[in-house]
Amino acid sequence: MSVYVITGVSKGIGFEFLKQISEDQKNLVVGLVRDIAATEKKIAAELGDRPNVHILHADLTKYASLKQAASDTAKITGERGIDYLVANGAFVPDLDGYGPIGALSDKVEEVDAVSSQLSQTNVVGNIHLFHLFLPLVLKGKVKKVITITTGLADIDFTNQCEAETGALYAASKAAMNVIVAKFNAQYKKDGVLFLGISPGVVDVGRTPTPEEMQGLMGFMGKLVTYAPHFKGPISPEESVRHVRSTWEKASIEGGFGGAFISHLGNKQAAMVRAIFSYAIEACGNKSDKDTDSDKDSDKDAHIVSDSRSPKSPKKFYTAIHFHDLPHLHRLCSIPY
Ligand SMILES: NC(=O)c1ccc[n+]([C@@H]2O[C@H](COP(=O)([O-])OP(=O)(O)OC[C@H]3O[C@@H](n4cnc5c(N)ncnc54)[C@H](OP(=O)(O)O)[C@@H]3O)[C@@H](O)[C@H]2O)c1
Repeated sequence: MSVYVITGVSKGIGFEFLKQISEDQKNLVVGLVRDIAATEKKIAAELGDRPNVHILHADLTKYASLKQAASDTAKITGERGIDYLVANGAFVPDLDGYGPIGALSDKVEEVDAVSSQLSQTNVVGNIHLFHLFLPLVLKGKVKKVITITTGLADIDFTNQCEAETGALYAASKAAMNVIVAKFNAQYKKDGVLFLGISPGVVDVGRTPTPEEMQGLMGFMGKLVTYAPHFKGPISPEESVRHVRSTWEKASIEGGFGGAFISHLGNKQAAMVRAIFSYAIEACGNKSDKDTDSDKDSDKDAHIVSDSRSPKSPKKFYTAIHFHDLPHLHRLCSIPY
């Protein structure tokens, strides 16, 4: 049985976290939202009665509400503290979501307003959240603080895929990745794992306008050119399943403290590595050309049959480790 506190459970990926985790009656889930009544109505309609779920009010831009939520959570969880704090809630603006940064050049006031809201919500709000809930995390057994970040905040991915959309939003997430590393630098010694995980490209039911759709299709087109196996957005169900599996495997001892990884658990360049995930799996398919030491380095990979398997898992892992993309492309026989 574990105790979870999750922000932004009113919809999207956050609601899916709440749904999957509270399916196990032994888990206790405290969901933080801005609108308690609407969330409770949605839970009742879609999940029925879940006595192990508690919904509390908290707005990431309002410190007092976060403080009250931390105090109320302490009353619910008591001496158990909390095992997982999941910073999922975020402001995801439409302003920069579908177009390049240049399209913002004449939108001075909007850029100022949205940037300020992004900073207050996605960065400062989470800093307050961590400070206020850390005493409860320190009381818990598992001690994992997970921040949901984005592959768009990955500089290598942005440059290599020419991912021009989401500039302001991605910058707020990149700033939060640094904050995660700073918390790790201080609290790793107390056994708290601070980790950023990108959920992948997830369909949460947003409906873009026809104009926005054009920008979105342009981005998807680049992804497909860059990574031909990319099949489009995944469901919240699939994303959350992977993210949970990844945070279960991650540990301070394993070198994950302060890291920024994909929903598939790949270290460094989260989106790029998610894209190459099939090849990582394919590494489990032993090639005749593998040496004994290759096989040793490969022992944790699970076996799948895949004709795209790189010829040498050891070289593949080395390329992944050093994020050597041209080498990865050669090993995987993908045109660069
Ligand atoms: N979907 C994707 O493809 C994708 C990709 C990469 C990363 N992500 C990340 O995944 C997380 C969940 O995103 P999503 O796609 O599920 O988005 P979403 O459907 O827009 O959900 C965002 C959640 O954040 C909450 N929120 C927004 N502003 C808040 C505030 N000031 N205080 C408290 N809560 C606030 C929203 O609550 P309200 O209902 O009150 O607005 C909502 O519950 C975010 O961190 C996002 O950046 C998503």
